[in-house]
Amino acid sequence: MPRFLIVVALTLPVSGRGHCTLDGKASHHDLGTEAVQAMSKSAAQPSWQESLFLSIPSNSSARASLEYITSKPHVAGTVGDLHMAEYVRDSFRREGITAELDPQKVLLTYPIRSALQLVDSTGRVVSAAKLAEDVLQEDNTSDTWWRNHTFNAFSPSGDVTAPVVYANFGLPEDFAALKAAGVDVRGTIALMRYGKCFRGLKAMNAQKAGALAAAIYSDPEQDGYAQGSVYPYGPWRPESSVQRGSIQFISLCAGDPTRAYAPHGKSVEELCGYSREELIPQIPVLPISYGDAAIFLDSLGGKEAPASFKGALNITYRTGPTQMQYKVRMQVDNHFQSSPVWNVVGKIPGTLPADLDQPVLLGNHRDAWVYGAADPNSGTAQLLEVAKGLGELLRRGWRPLRSIYLCSWSGEEYGLLGSTAWGEVNGDGPGALLKRALAYLNVDVGVSGAHFRAAGTPSLAQLLSGVLGQVHHPASQKPLSEHWSGRLYSLGSGSDYTVFIDRLGIPSLDMSFTPGEAHYGVYHSVYDSFNWMATEGDPNFTYHVAMSQVWGLTALRLAGSDDRGNLPLPLNLSIQAQAISSYIAEAKQTLNHTAPERVLRFEPLEQATAAFLQAADKSSEEADRLRKLGPPAFDEIVAFNNKIGLLERSFLMESGLPGRKWFRHCLQAPGLYTGYAAKTLPGITEAISAKDWQLAQAQIQACAERIWSAASALSDVGLVIAV
Ligand SMILES: *[C@@H]1O[C@H](CO)[C@@H](O)[C@H](O)[C@H]1NC(C)=O
Ligand SMILES: *[C@@H]1O[C@H](CO)[C@@H](O)[C@H](O)[C@H]1NC(C)=O
Ligand SMILES: *[C@@H]1O[C@H](CO)[C@@H](O)[C@H](O)[C@H]1NC(C)=O
Ligand SMILES: *[C@@H]1O[C@H](CO)[C@@H](O)[C@H](O)[C@H]1NC(C)=O
Ligand SMILES: *[C@@H]1O[C@H](CO)[C@@H](O)[C@H](O)[C@H]1NC(C)=O
Ligand SMILES: *[C@@H]1O[C@H](CO)[C@@H](O)[C@H](O)[C@H]1NC(C)=O
Ligand SMILES: *[C@@H]1O[C@H](CO)[C@@H](O)[C@H](O)[C@H]1NC(C)=O
Ligand SMILES: [Zn+2]
Repeated sequence: MPRFLIVVALTLPVSGRGHCTLDGKASHHDLGTEAVQAMSKSAAQPSWQESLFLSIPSNSSARASLEYITSKPHVAGTVGDLHMAEYVRDSFRREGITAELDPQKVLLTYPIRSALQLVDSTGRVVSAAKLAEDVLQEDNTSDTWWRNHTFNAFSPSGDVTAPVVYANFGLPEDFAALKAAGVDVRGTIALMRYGKCFRGLKAMNAQKAGALAAAIYSDPEQDGYAQGSVYPYGPWRPESSVQRGSIQFISLCAGDPTRAYAPHGKSVEELCGYSREELIPQIPVLPISYGDAAIFLDSLGGKEAPASFKGALNITYRTGPTQMQYKVRMQVDNHFQSSPVWNVVGKIPGTLPADLDQPVLLGNHRDAWVYGAADPNSGTAQLLEVAKGLGELLRRGWRPLRSIYLCSWSGEEYGLLGSTAWGEVNGDGPGALLKRALAYLNVDVGVSGAHFRAAGTPSLAQLLSGVLGQVHHPASQKPLSEHWSGRLYSLGSGSDYTVFIDRLGIPSLDMSFTPGEAHYGVYHSVYDSFNWMATEGDPNFTYHVAMSQVWGLTALRLAGSDDRGNLPLPLNLSIQAQAISSYIAEAKQTLNHTAPERVLRFEPLEQATAAFLQAADKSSEEADRLRKLGPPAFDEIVAFNNKIGLLERSFLMESGLPGRKWFRHCLQAPGLYTGYAAKTLPGITEAISAKDWQLAQAQIQACAERIWSAASALSDVGLVIAV
């Protein structure tokens, strides 16, 4: 009989742990704290409109809207989703902002039933996983149908009886380690833990290794008692809590795997280069709690697992397979259906003529795995506070120069379905709304801790630093700029900015308050609830206020104000060029790490970057000159803004990245095997990792050409491509 594990809540210090990358280090560009300070000090002081805006977001108002949005489940495509879409639309309209629902037909999955059992040789059930999250007295929304129906979206149904093997994080090197240890994954159920890479890629890697099914559990090392007290005694993941989530192969192509909304009549094969079957797993996959996982881990035979496989459960971690006398039966019954999800799009028209407009977009998803108080509705409450601030300005007669769009996405949790659909539909074609979009500002999990984190396009870093100088950190009351390290992470995937930056080349930002390195403890569980937020996440709702201020002020500075006239856009391309230099250094390191004896010619990339840096510095000087001239230099400023506002598009490669043509940006993409975390110069670094030297050299060339084209667009002259 396997021993049932008693899990005790231990309070241990939070230790820094890597987040979803192979080496625990997400790609980023370090601006450094000094540069951030300098940029925040030299930034403009708020105008009267900006000061008024900053005074509007309030913690009691954010609390009230969050409580309403989290009062019932609103999983994508359900009646709760539609209800909350109408609530957000009506909230925008109350502020004088035109707003409409934008339904998009996509493929969704819902759970019917599932089981996971340890059976003996006669088929008798020895023990069974609960597959349910406990009702907590302290949390009055925890008793819901959804707590009994934990599942992974896009898992096919199936009934598999097989031994289990333990494959750690489910990374390619974990499967390689098993193979080296003589453990055969073929014909087994692969049990993996959450962390280090996007869950869909765990499923993909398990399927590739020949597993018949997969289960993914939350080891307490990542977000349970090893991090601190568990909910409701602290913020971390309790024993029965399950991380739901999509297992789409998101690094191959984002969005609906069927393209049921048929953007411009195109099929998924045409857009992504893959069929529906290639974009979602063909083996059943089930997410489980650490309470349940312990049953199956504890019945494993085989050798003791290597140190890197060991989590924080009080057991001996083994590689498996399951001891000879047992087998494991996994049954998954999910229902697939094509139906609408509801985006909400609000618009404040700018006063520039339509052909000069450069729209600024703010986006947050609204659909949740059950209640989603942190993910994503802390961001939704913040978006509504931003809307209130803008509404107040509108009532005082203010108008933005450039149009501002407020977007509330649905279907994000299934694989960025709503935002990708809207981006694809509005990205192409004559007069497409997004053709001239200036920036996309994303907030997903607005608050799950106290540390400000930003990922984004480096050209937005100076603007962000200036904004952070105007907003106070709720705990210290010092400017947020003094709390930010200046580490600007590269955009990977896992939230709605993906279509905007990776497909359409629109400069993007993604911001959050996080607990630090670890992912917050109740992520994608029924306990990501209003009560969690009000007791653990942000009891005073002051971080909600701070993010609303940062988000809205960033948008105001990009959109410009009609009464101040047209001014040069606040993008800094010198920082972009410096970031590219740091990516090249990183790619060289990857090469040194992978094949120190190998030589690749990085010169084309370096020369292009040097030319781009030179052109960028010149454009900084031009910006200064035009700023001094001010609105009378309207035509010159229009020409300048057209040039720098569209510059990011230069980095798009027509044919896309090798093996995943939907992703077109040559400077960053989600890692092919990590999913959430970004790879910079992805075509190059992934060819290096695959030791495909010819491809790596060709990708150096292709990206160098893109950077040359950026340099030449900036300097208004056709530069000779010297390679
Ligand atoms: C939960 O309790 C709060 C008061 O603590 C109450 O306002 C709310 O309506 C309750 N929610 C549900 C779903 O019962
Ligand atoms: C969840 O499952 C338990 C045990 O089967 C059952 O008692 C409870 O009524 C279910 N809860 C809901 C809300 O369906
Ligand atoms: C771990 O398990 C062992 C053996 O079952 C037990 O003696 C020990 O007390 C447990 N430790 C903790 C911290 O629970
Ligand atoms: C909430 O605000 C009060 C002041 O009203 C303060 O004493 C307390 O520390 C704050 N709590 C948190 C978690 O920030
Ligand atoms: C708002 O924040 C203040 C602390 O700044 C706190 O005292 C107050 O209780 C908070 N209000 C709500 C509704 O959370
Ligand atoms: C390659 O790595 C080694 C060991 O870390 C280091 O000594 C060497 O300088 C690196 N070479 C290059 C070209 O970066
Ligand atoms: C852009 O940033 C650089 C620092 O990297 C700075 O020297 C330059 O002045 C900035 N340009 C503008 C227009 O502020
Ligand atoms: Zn989210």
